[in-house]
Amino acid sequence: MITILVIGIGTGSPDQLTTEAVAALNRTDLFLVPDKGADKHHLATLRRELCESVIDHDRYRFIEVPDPVRGSDADRGSAAYRAAVVGWHAERARRYAATIRDLLGADGTVGFLVLGDPSLYDSTIRIAESIRDDGGLSLKIEVVPGISSLSLLAARHRITLNRVGLPVHVTTGRRLVEEYRPELGDVAVMLDGSLHCKGLLPEYPDLTIYWGAQLGLPEEVLISGRLADVIDSIEDARSAARASRGWVLDIYLLRPSG
Ligand SMILES: C[S@@+](CC[C@H](N)C(=O)[O-])C[C@H]1O[C@@H](n2cnc3c(N)ncnc32)[C@H](O)[C@@H]1O
Repeated sequence: MITILVIGIGTGSPDQLTTEAVAALNRTDLFLVPDKGADKHHLATLRRELCESVIDHDRYRFIEVPDPVRGSDADRGSAAYRAAVVGWHAERARRYAATIRDLLGADGTVGFLVLGDPSLYDSTIRIAESIRDDGGLSLKIEVVPGISSLSLLAARHRITLNRVGLPVHVTTGRRLVEEYRPELGDVAVMLDGSLHCKGLLPEYPDLTIYWGAQLGLPEEVLISGRLADVIDSIEDARSAARASRGWVLDIYLLRPSG
């Protein structure tokens, strides 16, 4: 029997790993990591270094599996975007199933390392289900939670994500401007490569923003304040973070005033 462990590894630093995640990393025979090309090789390196820092044996393999190319999502509408993602996941699952069959046969433990928590904007659980359902392998899936970037953002700013008795809405940069209204409550925004909150400035300049980039890493940066007052500093800090590491991961919460 194959066991797939979907392991939340927090935001990249060993300090953000739970004891349960460390135990799961130590149980794994074969880590499968997507090879997303030279531009994103830092993500594979980060995972490899994390394994080296907490696994107390060398009986594991760390294999980078070439990721299928999806092409640009920029011009896709929502339906085309979802269709592209579904096809891409199916091909990824097929490649992973083939690698598991080649390297483990019918027995062993496979680990997938998920940044943050597997429950939030991550497809690994769905891909593991496809490997099980379509890949012709007898396997079970276990999920180990991780500290999400959303939890870390709130902790670093020393805030709760919602105000008393009010909702919190989690969305992506590409959806923000279209769906924003104050009745949503506090709005957390992930996967925003171009600070779409700038599109809210004309109508909602008084929103409070709590922004964080490279959370959990040594160069972590935090900015908060009235959106109209701090957006320029956030843009500058974002560019500086990208320049220093070659990439930037950031997340923010928008809180209505009053
Ligand atoms: C594909 S989603 C994965 C989210 C992840 N599963 C989680 O629980 O945080 C990637 C997005 O998470 C956020 N993110 C992940 N790591 C981050 C970090 N270290 N600092 C700030 N934001 C981060 C960014 O919004 C990024 O675009």
